[in-house]
Amino acid sequence: MQVIILPSTHDVALYAADRVVDVINTKTNPVLGLATGSTPIALYEELVARYQAKQVSFRQAVSFNLDEYIGITDSHEQSYRTFMNQHLFDHIDIAKSNTHVPLAESKDAIVLKKSAQDYEASIQQAGGIDLQILGIGLNGHIGFNEPTSSFASRTRIKTLSESTVAANKRFFKAGEYQPQLALTMGIGSILDSRAVLLMATGKAKAEAVKAMIEGPLSAMCPASALQLHEATTIVLDEDAASLLALKDYYQWCELKRQQLYEGSLT
Ligand code: F6R
Repeated sequence: MQVIILPSTHDVALYAADRVVDVINTKTNPVLGLATGSTPIALYEELVARYQAKQVSFRQAVSFNLDEYIGITDSHEQSYRTFMNQHLFDHIDIAKSNTHVPLAESKDAIVLKKSAQDYEASIQQAGGIDLQILGIGLNGHIGFNEPTSSFASRTRIKTLSESTVAANKRFFKAGEYQPQLALTMGIGSILDSRAVLLMATGKAKAEAVKAMIEGPLSAMCPASALQLHEATTIVLDEDAASLLALKDYYQWCELKRQQLYEGSLT
């Protein structure tokens, strides 16, 4: 794993934006894997700013989001489709028909299973994901792969953990139906991506980040599965990195990498 520790959440967003723009500018048909949640909002703001400054065009890009709540419409205020439209897709030149968010409005298991299989097939048809953006849950989840999810899992129906439901409660009005199931790409689907970039910011994520990077490979910390991916970058702010035992070593690695690429290695 490449672990990059940056001074602020803004720096984390800038780093992630550079990586996304690099994929967009170097691939003919770039395929992005995208996440929702608070963490990538600053990344999406930066991408919108760069698009407005004519530094990047998303015309050729295709995207696949990680997950969607089951049982709410696409147009629901809290759907992940709405989130993506509001934070990114409505403000850039990506064709909406090229943006994919799992279709999870139905509450019928057969319809949902078919939707999950179709989602996997669409990712394959698009040629696979070039760069998957991830956040991490307080319990170590990636996508909605909650603790004890199989490392081989594919897009499927997943019951949210109590802690995830509690963490997302703030987004729903009092008395409103809050989904407790989601359709999510699996850990196996995520590991198929050609590169993974996980962003984590804030003290609250420090435990999960430590377990992901320095803990054992364990289904109890789904993000630890990223240890198995040969092209994973974890980009952190100081707070999210605060519990890492080998923090100095990761910073040393980055310094050496920089010197190597700049030709100033001593
Ligand atoms: C959302 C997703 C989740 C979030 C995670 C962190 O699409 O995949 O795994 O990345 O719950 O959420 P925030 O960024 O709100 O802390």
